[in-house]
Amino acid sequence: MLTAMDVQAGSHGEPNTRGPESDSPAVLLEGVTKVFRSRDREVRVLDGVNVEVRRGASVGILGHSGAGKSTLLSIIAGIERPTAGVVQTGGVDLLRARPSQLPKFRFQHVGFVFQQYHLIPTLNALENVMMPCVPWKVDYDPRQRATELLGLVRLADRADHLPSQLSGGEQQRVCIARALINRPTLLLADEPTGNLDEESEQEVMGLIRDLADQFGMTLLFVTHSRELAGSFQRVVRLKSGVVVEEP
Ligand SMILES: Nc1ncnc2c1ncn2[C@@H]1O[C@H](COP(=O)(O)OP(=O)(O)OP(=O)(O)O)[C@@H](O)[C@H]1O
Ligand SMILES: [Mg+2]
Repeated sequence: MLTAMDVQAGSHGEPNTRGPESDSPAVLLEGVTKVFRSRDREVRVLDGVNVEVRRGASVGILGHSGAGKSTLLSIIAGIERPTAGVVQTGGVDLLRARPSQLPKFRFQHVGFVFQQYHLIPTLNALENVMMPCVPWKVDYDPRQRATELLGLVRLADRADHLPSQLSGGEQQRVCIARALINRPTLLLADEPTGNLDEESEQEVMGLIRDLADQFGMTLLFVTHSRELAGSFQRVVRLKSGVVVEEP
């Protein structure tokens, strides 16, 4: 098991001695700025984001299209690197971590539910759920765990279906199961209900919330719906490059 200390060991092997992993917040962002630069222009998407999320909390994230919500989740997951600021996820200082260790860090700590599913079309539901385990040595049977997870998202009878043989809501439930295969402590859901009808939206949303409770995960849930966001413990809005609390 990769620990916070392993990940934080600097280039000289010196561990970062910030507090123990379990005492730290699930997410801590300080002054996070992200500027995308292309040849002739600069897009300042995040401009000094400060936010702290305690372990086990659930947070709805609002913001207009282009506000930087997906960019923010990618930074928290260590997929995208900010231009400036401090990013700690699960007590790990991601900007001081060795880039080569970030994929393993993500596998061990972070589950990501993407809006566009990103399922592999030639693999069936069960194989898609097992997919994140492929590069790693794990101490459980991925097939057995994937089968259990498909049961939890009520798709036990669709295990051998290809994505093209599943509805949008069913594909999104496969994505949820895939995000949970390694029991992450942090679940990042990026508009997971954006493409669903109202009934499937409620179902997928309820499922994510129940599973986050059941597994004791911290949940960050991006949505365009004020109503959906309002059902989480805390609501924040990404506006003009910063995060503001909603009442
Ligand atoms: N790799 C990139 N290069 C240049 N600009 C980018 C890049 N990725 C994102 N952007 C820009 O950053 C801004 C924020 O994008 P982001 O995808 O984070 O928005 P969002 O809030 O998730 O929007 P939506 O609600 O539509 O999903 C957009 O204006 C986008 O064009
Ligand atoms: Mg987005």
